Amino acid sequence: MKKQLITVFVMAILFALPGKAQKPVYLDDTKSIEDRVKDALSRMTLEEKVKLCHAQSKFSSSGVPRLGIPELWMSDGPHGVREEILWNSWGAAGWTNDSCTAFPALTCLAATWNPEMSAIYGKAIGEEARYRRKDVLLGPGVNIYRTPLNGRNFEFLGEDPFLASTMVVPYIQEVQKNGVAACVKHYALNNQETWRGHINVELSDRALYEIYLPAFKAAVQKGGVWSIMGSYNKVRGQHACHSDLLLQKILKGEWKFDGAVITDWGGAHDTREAALNGLDIEMGSYTDGLISESAFTYDDYYLARPYLQMLKEGKVPMSTIDDKASRVLRLIFRTAMDSKKPWGSFTSEEHNKVSRTVAEEGIVLLKNTPLSKKIPALLPLDGAKYNKILVVGENATRRLTEGGGSSALKVKNEVSPLAGLLAKYGDKVVYAKGYDSGRVMYEKINKIPTSVLDSLRAEAIKQATDADVVIFIGGLNKNHLQDCEAGDRESYALPFGQNELISGLLKVNKKMVMVLISGNAVEMPWVKEVPSILQAWYLGSESGNAIANVLSGEVNPSGKLPFSFPVKLGDNAAHSFGQISYPGDSINQEYKEDILVGYRWHDTKKIPALFSFGHGLGYTSFSYGKAVISDKTMPEDGTLVVTIPVKNIGKVAGKEVVQLYIGDEKCTFARPLKELKGFKKIALAPGEETAVTFTITADDLKFYNDKESKWTAEAGKFKIYIGASSTDIRSTLEFTLQ
Ligand code: GLC
Repeated sequence: MKKQLITVFVMAILFALPGKAQKPVYLDDTKSIEDRVKDALSRMTLEEKVKLCHAQSKFSSSGVPRLGIPELWMSDGPHGVREEILWNSWGAAGWTNDSCTAFPALTCLAATWNPEMSAIYGKAIGEEARYRRKDVLLGPGVNIYRTPLNGRNFEFLGEDPFLASTMVVPYIQEVQKNGVAACVKHYALNNQETWRGHINVELSDRALYEIYLPAFKAAVQKGGVWSIMGSYNKVRGQHACHSDLLLQKILKGEWKFDGAVITDWGGAHDTREAALNGLDIEMGSYTDGLISESAFTYDDYYLARPYLQMLKEGKVPMSTIDDKASRVLRLIFRTAMDSKKPWGSFTSEEHNKVSRTVAEEGIVLLKNTPLSKKIPALLPLDGAKYNKILVVGENATRRLTEGGGSSALKVKNEVSPLAGLLAKYGDKVVYAKGYDSGRVMYEKINKIPTSVLDSLRAEAIKQATDADVVIFIGGLNKNHLQDCEAGDRESYALPFGQNELISGLLKVNKKMVMVLISGNAVEMPWVKEVPSILQAWYLGSESGNAIANVLSGEVNPSGKLPFSFPVKLGDNAAHSFGQISYPGDSINQEYKEDILVGYRWHDTKKIPALFSFGHGLGYTSFSYGKAVISDKTMPEDGTLVVTIPVKNIGKVAGKEVVQLYIGDEKCTFARPLKELKGFKKIALAPGEETAVTFTITADDLKFYNDKESKWTAEAGKFKIYIGASSTDIRSTLEFTLQ
């Protein structure tokens, strides 16, 4: 006993010695994050814990000033770091040090079908967010492309859960290496902008688990994402931002998510539900998330005073606030309080190069075939062959990093397509605007006088009469009711009178290259009359250089479509079940196509798309040999290896995306004809051949059995389809699952 007393006494002296004071655990980054969280929590008052769970300004939430725990600073968006916003409104703060690098929209990233592009993209945007001292980057978005009218498809990764799941992971991992949290969004079922704030989505468990959740699950379980954003809409009657099903049962229960759930701006609507159902940080309440807001104090937030009151009155358990506060503290320790994180960088030439590389790899060559002896395939465009190259279209000069909603960017530079073409082809290039859509606005659209449109069209047609070739640069843009948040497109057709202009141009000059800039499929009534069509996305700072490099052949296009282009809107699954399917009846909406989204619909219903999921041409061609499989039967716990030789039989080096789909030939549950289960992007020199191998596991064969609420695969025959797109199948194989 005496000995122990002496020890305690000596220890007490040691601790008391000046300079020897033991650093509190929560401030000691040699300790584990979990120990630091526990220690911080034990030191905090109830009021301080509640303050962690809601905004203190438009884009920040409180820390714990008394303990030296910093605030969390958040910023949009998925394609670049948004300009600084005012403390308490959506207005720009007018800083002069926040003009960023604009990276291509995520549809373009998906169209690269190259996870390495995701990695360099995430690294670069993470460095920009770190440099701008942001702790949470509000992206990437992974909502599935269900309808071509959705105003925000340009921000997401397409129609297929496997492609989106594969492409989202490296982006998140690389962003977070900068000590910046990614915030995968919008969880979940925010697949349209019409009535986004309240529409209640009803769907089967199979569609939920097989189509709409996988990319979020991959972000959590493979990407290790540190935060996730709840979506505005309702799911099965509850707001997603405090949905027991989405947040407690699936995200935190089944997936073991240890990060923080953040609302979309204005996505919280009820204190009790927010308290009990797993919401951690409430942002932007009383705003519609993009335009309006009402006078209020942050203490009026659902998770502010009202929540504190319920806790004190014992109406909700204290365990709820300890779970929330722990998750927010964990997010702070992973970001703001990570003393070892790198310093980032901003608008460097390296980031510019990343932006251009992703853009070049994502551009999709949809068509490039001769129309007749006189009208050859026009790409690549050899300037030496032409004297007058006419560029027509507003998208050749319009700044497309502006508008579109929260992903809008103030950029250090943006090379327009016209500037890129002038740099490439010099003064052979002549420009005619052709059409005008007016300035970017939200909730309003411009009325351009017909006389203006008529004269622009007449001038372009006049210029086209003696042009050697016409490059039309049009498509959609970031205006309200186009590729823009808070509204959906009202038509599948090209807007602003472009079709009339295109047919006028074709009447006087058939040598037209069509360059569509959009984040959505569009109707193409002129598709048979145009020899060459390029799908160029919103490409960011290096748009013009990327487009010019692909048009000229300096870069051989290798992008593949991340979503189907239906011939007409009625061929799309969501538009095949009346208003309740899209856009819903303004209260409820039912995803009646169930698991048959995109190519799953086109394949199974035998409705050919104009351009298929996975389609993309290049300036060379590839031959596929015969696929071979390692075994004719797959043992329950085993794997199969599939190998196929692919050869570049053209004259220039190129990249090909070899795609592997699997079809369940016989199943007591309805299944799509085939589903993407693997892809590999390979680069081959002319004449070079390589063996592409895929490993298939039993998991690749499973569907979500909603009768038993688990993933299962039924024994029987399966088919493997290997091809250059979902419809350009070059080799098939069969095997049996025991
Ligand atoms: C917007 C968007 C969301 C964005 C947030 C903050 O309404 O839905 O993607 O991150 O609010 O701007």
